[in-house]
Amino acid sequence: MPAPMPAKTALDADAARVEAGPPDEAVGPLVRGVGVLRRLTEAGGTLSPSALERATGLARSTVDRITATLSRMDYVRPDGRDVVLAPRVMELGNAYLAALRLPALLGAHADALADELDESVSLAVADLDGIRFIHQATRHRAMSVSFRIGDLLPAERTAPGSLFATEWTEPDWTRWRARRAADPTDAAFPAVPPLHPPTDDSAFAERVERARRDGWAVDDQLIEPGLVAVSVPVRHPGTSRAACVASVVSHTSRHSATDLRTTLLPRLRTAVTAMESALRTAPPPEPGPPPAGLATWTTASKHQLGRDFVESLARGLTVPAAFGEGRSALSLSEVARATGLARATVRRALLTHEHLGLVRAHPDRTYALTPRILDLGFPPLSRTTLPRLAEPHLRLLADRLHEPTALAVLTPDGTEIQYTAGASASRVLTVHITVGARLPAAATSLGRVLLADTTTPLPPALAEVRARGYALVDEELESGLRSIAVPVRDRSGRTVAALNVATHAARRTLEDCVHQVLPTLRTTADHIESDLRTASRFTHIPAS
Ligand code: PHB
Repeated sequence: MPAPMPAKTALDADAARVEAGPPDEAVGPLVRGVGVLRRLTEAGGTLSPSALERATGLARSTVDRITATLSRMDYVRPDGRDVVLAPRVMELGNAYLAALRLPALLGAHADALADELDESVSLAVADLDGIRFIHQATRHRAMSVSFRIGDLLPAERTAPGSLFATEWTEPDWTRWRARRAADPTDAAFPAVPPLHPPTDDSAFAERVERARRDGWAVDDQLIEPGLVAVSVPVRHPGTSRAACVASVVSHTSRHSATDLRTTLLPRLRTAVTAMESALRTAPPPEPGPPPAGLATWTTASKHQLGRDFVESLARGLTVPAAFGEGRSALSLSEVARATGLARATVRRALLTHEHLGLVRAHPDRTYALTPRILDLGFPPLSRTTLPRLAEPHLRLLADRLHEPTALAVLTPDGTEIQYTAGASASRVLTVHITVGARLPAAATSLGRVLLADTTTPLPPALAEVRARGYALVDEELESGLRSIAVPVRDRSGRTVAALNVATHAARRTLEDCVHQVLPTLRTTADHIESDLRTASRFTHIPAS
């Protein structure tokens, strides 16, 4: 066996590994499956199979088997002829963010600062010679780019990058220079506008020196004209190492670079002091239960889908799920126990993930997920909304029952409902839903379900809706129209939307509505809630 390479830093070892190509024992289907997820993410979440073929260089039959397997895992879904990323794929990034703990411990501080300043605030971690966002408290403005959780930016074009680079060793600088030479326009960073004309590398080294001296850094329009940011590192308790970097982002129309320093920096520093204290006083992490039955699930799927189910890909992708809060560094045996996979399978999967830069091996022979795992679906999905997330489920429900379905929310004053999504049925005589249209809340099944969750004392009819868990409105709004609705609840159990099916009195009796429609409706609501739970674990998913 060859002697292990003397690696000066983890980054150095990573670079050498990737250049060397996959190790012999790497799991080929896992490498290809991860490639498909990466290409889909870069494309914003949607690609046709032929575009996937071109982007990955794989044969069509391979693309089809990979997407069938990812589809079985509910990581992608077919949408017409396209393949689209599904919210469930966010569980990969969620495992990393939960293990990291920083979003959970610091996110509320960042949000409060954004409210106080009325500016966007972000948290970023170092990712090799880039920075990657792990939290965003975004103020949507007409004039500014805004990045998503999981977006990767080149270190030299950001304020956090100057701060992280103060900790770089010589091999890190070598890696960075090699990347700059190979990619002078930042083509490898789809989240930022291309750099032209290419800039001079020495300016970055100067900014890093200034960041080292000052302990903070500014970005004076490095990404694009108008965009400015000021950043301060949040240090690991008792060390000088940055756990992450907090930034306030603004626009030159609101704050000049000087202004950032005099007005925003002092308040950012106060917030960072509070963040550091939150890290110091955080209770030890509480390991949640490991995911159950993953290995059994993949075996069952293999039986059902046969040749189209690429078991080694599915098994490899269950490995990240073993990580989480209080499970940030796991040994091979711990991963095997958590996933139910054989040790040999886990060893090869970890080796493959390590080669792909998604997992890092520590000297004590434990493994950890890297921020690079956020490349698998997170950025496009972190910007989803409840209506978008619900739409494919509404489509399936409408097709299954041959009845129109809709999703609605209550207007702020609580008197009306507003449709946020809908799927029509393939019938001639059908109800058409117009997204944005409003109806009186009290007269609709959707409205009654939404009103039944409000805290004001409920009239008996609504108390009954709440107790039963559904509302049925029979020809009250319109002669012949029957509609049944159930609540859609968020992680905290609050009703955030209502979902209904409308039918005609001549098509279904009231009993049919309760016995045939209601169970299917409830199952659909469960699926929407499950996607919402996954998607909203570390991101805010608007209800409309
Ligand atoms: C951000 O969008 O949060 C951001 C952008 C550029 C920076 C720092 C933060 O330099």
